[in-house]
Amino acid sequence: MQQDALLSSVSPALTFEVLATQGRARASRMTLPHFAAETPMFMPVGTKGTVKGLTSQQLVDLDCHVILGNTYHLEERPGSDLVSELGGLHNFINWPRGMLTDSGGFQMVSLLHLADITEEGVQFQSPVDGSLMMLTPERSIAIQNKLGADIIMALDDVVSSVNTSPERFKEATHRTTRWIDRCIKAHSRPNEQNLFAIVQGGLDENLRAISIKELSERGLPGYAIGGLAGGESKDDFWRVVAQCTAPDHGLPSHKPRYVMGVGFPLDIVICSALGADMFDSVYPTRTARFGVALVSSGVLKLKNVSFTEDFRPLDIDCPCMTCKKYTRAFLHNLVAKGIPFAAMLVSLHNVAYTQRLTQQIRVAITQQRFPEFVQQFVRGHYPAGT
Ligand code: GUN
Ligand code: ZN
Repeated sequence: MQQDALLSSVSPALTFEVLATQGRARASRMTLPHFAAETPMFMPVGTKGTVKGLTSQQLVDLDCHVILGNTYHLEERPGSDLVSELGGLHNFINWPRGMLTDSGGFQMVSLLHLADITEEGVQFQSPVDGSLMMLTPERSIAIQNKLGADIIMALDDVVSSVNTSPERFKEATHRTTRWIDRCIKAHSRPNEQNLFAIVQGGLDENLRAISIKELSERGLPGYAIGGLAGGESKDDFWRVVAQCTAPDHGLPSHKPRYVMGVGFPLDIVICSALGADMFDSVYPTRTARFGVALVSSGVLKLKNVSFTEDFRPLDIDCPCMTCKKYTRAFLHNLVAKGIPFAAMLVSLHNVAYTQRLTQQIRVAITQQRFPEFVQQFVRGHYPAGT
């Protein structure tokens, strides 16, 4: 039997139904053209069309509902025309479930030394061959329309949350609003793809309020909270997320809310408690490539010689293939020798860990025991006396 929704929104290519709430936290179903996803959910990042170290079958087996791709990287190579000729990104990378593409906005921060930002758009210089790419709101959306992801992101003016002047924050906030209208106008496939807007405004409460109000008025299928996870304090980070998800003057509560760039387990738990639904980050796979495994007590740094004769799995409760078949001692040996197979095995475990975490969050909210879950999670990560 289908559960009745407490809150819902229906867009041509997305239905969002809140099935259970506890405090601000919610467990929801988000039906996309390629998959009926459940939230809170974590979306692994496959910047260039692959989640590093994992096959799409492994991602299905780990129950990933949506994965991420990146406009800038995919346009640089192989190019959206080629992907479109091959039947779109889903076909090209052989991924049957939900996909989301980011607009390229974030690369303004991460490749700042190579980007020139004006009202027209962002000009990037390729770190590979020095060639120039101009990404305007229109161009970003045209590329994303060709790639064909279920959710596409508006081009936003992203500035670092630290070391930025108040004037630049103000400019970026208002420019992001001007650009959303250009994105909406350029979007040619609103019946098949969902355009999400991205709230900016740095750590400034007034600018965030303006951004929330302006973007909410556009009536889009979903909203993201951007400009975070970039080195600001945890207090600032949580305060901004709490403002954006507040019942009054926050983003619309009947639509999905996505905190961009969040992948630390604790941040996923806290942001879910604050009412966020979607998260993405390279963290689980990137940290795996450094030989770091995510476990219920925090992290295991597998380079450490203390694992030389540790014949336990990474996590006794984890059902993933790595934990079923291999010991910490074996993984330590691979990591210590820099063998790439280690990155694959630990990536598999870390994505499994993160997927299981969001599943446990959903179940806890549904069973009305989310506060107890949060307590247990925090106790695991920060045992008494540490
Ligand atoms: N990824 C992480 N943060 C952001 C952001 O603020 N904007 C975009 N477009 N992508 C992001
Ligand atoms: Zn595992």
